[in-house]
Amino acid sequence: MEKERKLIVAGNWKMNKTVAEGLDLVSGLKRELANIKEIDIVVCPPFTALADVSRAILDSNIRLGAQNMSEQNFGAFTGEIAAGMLKEFSVRYVILGHSERRQFYRETDALVAKKAIAAHAASLKPIVCVGELLEEREGNKTEEVVARQLKGSLAGLTKSQVEETIIAYEPVWAIGTGRNATPQQAQDVHAFIRKQLTSLYDENVARRVRIQYGGSVKASNARELLKQADVDGALVGGASLEIRGFSDIIKNSI
Ligand code: 13P
Repeated sequence: MEKERKLIVAGNWKMNKTVAEGLDLVSGLKRELANIKEIDIVVCPPFTALADVSRAILDSNIRLGAQNMSEQNFGAFTGEIAAGMLKEFSVRYVILGHSERRQFYRETDALVAKKAIAAHAASLKPIVCVGELLEEREGNKTEEVVARQLKGSLAGLTKSQVEETIIAYEPVWAIGTGRNATPQQAQDVHAFIRKQLTSLYDENVARRVRIQYGGSVKASNARELLKQADVDGALVGGASLEIRGFSDIIKNSI
């Protein structure tokens, strides 16, 4: 389909896949998606599989992303991984502020912003996640929550860094529930995000930023979601764990 911005579909494997399983998955994806040039394709394996998956996709149209990183560059931060370490494996993208990190590991907008600054400093493209909880949607707080997360999580970035940042709108009630936002619900929030980007930065920035939708995306609903004017791709969890599930999302969206 003809879109203003190039679509980007990323698979967030979360805490799934051994190295061997990850290699099986990408070898299938390489086969299925070899001819696709219209869509940017990204896989985000766990840290432990980055090295092997990186080698396996070297000669392909699939790019590598990580699921998190430290806001620090090096030093005494036990258990953390720095942007520079990701670069060693040719990682190009990094998911930041996913709702699971916000909910279970207490990541704040301010921390996400520090991570986004560190990512850009290392020339990694951050995929910054925002999205409301079910009770926030039901309380008509979606726009307020998304506006706050967006402003806070991008704080300190220059305009040109924001242009190179990908936003993922992931309503928390749609993640892993099988209940996706309707295409209209997604479009409404994406348009709102773009309006916020216009007032925080300017129209040019807002026009260039790619906004992915995430939350129960699968082969059967991807096309309708990605057809929306302000939906520029998908961040896929469960359906990205299978060759067929992920490759069909991409094929159906062209
Ligand atoms: P599901 O596709 O499993 O709902 O997960 C979405 C998600 O959290 C991607 O980051």
